[in-house]
Amino acid sequence: MKRKTTLTQYLVEQQRKKQAVSAEVRLLIETVARACKAIGHAVGKGALGGVLGSLGTENVQGEVQKKLDVLSNEILLEANEWGGHLAAMASEEMETIYHIPNRYPKGEYLLLFDPLDGSSNIDVNVSIGTIFSVLRAPHHASGRDVDEKDFLQAGKEQVAAGYAVYGPQSMLVLTVGAGVVGFTLDREMGSWVLTHDNITIPEQTSEFAINMSNMRHWEAPVRRYIDECLAGKSGPLGKDYNMRWIASMVADVHRILSRGGIFMYPRDARPSGRAGKLRIMYEANPMSFIVEQAGGAATDGSRRILDIQPEALHQRVGVVLGSRAEVERVQRYHAEQA
Ligand code: AHG
Ligand code: MN
Ligand code: MN
Ligand code: MN
Repeated sequence: MKRKTTLTQYLVEQQRKKQAVSAEVRLLIETVARACKAIGHAVGKGALGGVLGSLGTENVQGEVQKKLDVLSNEILLEANEWGGHLAAMASEEMETIYHIPNRYPKGEYLLLFDPLDGSSNIDVNVSIGTIFSVLRAPHHASGRDVDEKDFLQAGKEQVAAGYAVYGPQSMLVLTVGAGVVGFTLDREMGSWVLTHDNITIPEQTSEFAINMSNMRHWEAPVRRYIDECLAGKSGPLGKDYNMRWIASMVADVHRILSRGGIFMYPRDARPSGRAGKLRIMYEANPMSFIVEQAGGAATDGSRRILDIQPEALHQRVGVVLGSRAEVERVQRYHAEQA
């Protein structure tokens, strides 16, 4: 019987053969993966574990926090604070950055996460997930304490990114800048097993994902593209399109990595939507890195997402990502409009 490759083995091989990861990043990713296992376990217990429902508090994004948003955030902080691989952390659920307590050694990396993505799906038993991104801490060697500005690096500076999706199976999808791989959680063994090697996104698609209830607020280029999708075979795109919208970015992106498609949460004309909805540091950047590594593309309409210089930790951005040809088409419509 062929031996299965676990996450640990994959990372050791990356470190040895391709020097794609340092020992610290390897430890970091393994720690995040272990935390995701714990989050997945809590998710799986649902009502039996008393983890469903809201807490009545609001996060800095102005969203009501679910119990699982906060619990997942705590699991990730606790798992990662003591290992000595991090300089600081940042999260969708925390107003400012989390410094590594003084009792622990500090490392040279920054970890950012969306601890629980798809909060509106928690209580209805639909797939949710965790998204994470790893950056280098600038000036690490100087011994200076990290501050919020150190996190404001363009997505192309990411060292690694990944997500866990808690669905019918728990999966971990990862890039360290050498392609994209997927691991499935073997629940009996408690290990992440490589099941999806070299994930690539087909260039063309006939499936789109967007929240159609926002249509009246969209910018003209987005409306044009979706109108053309809806026109089907007799329209300018010459084929019939299908639509999916799970409302958990992890699950929607996971589908695109599995069979192609385009995902859009564009900026729109609502006061709350002008900058987009999704957060660049915790959602757009890690997902764009993964999608590009899988051969796809990611843009905010006019700019490659990974090139955007963020100005604030919780900054939002319009997101169009997935199959390359479709993303480029949407980008072209924006350019023609400008
Ligand atoms: P989060 O649960 O981390 O706040 O993120 C929710 C995001 C994303 O997962 C999803 O694509 C989008 O919000 C869904 O938004 P709508 O409810 O507006 O469709
Ligand atoms: Mn949220
Ligand atoms: Mn999210
Ligand atoms: Mn979230």
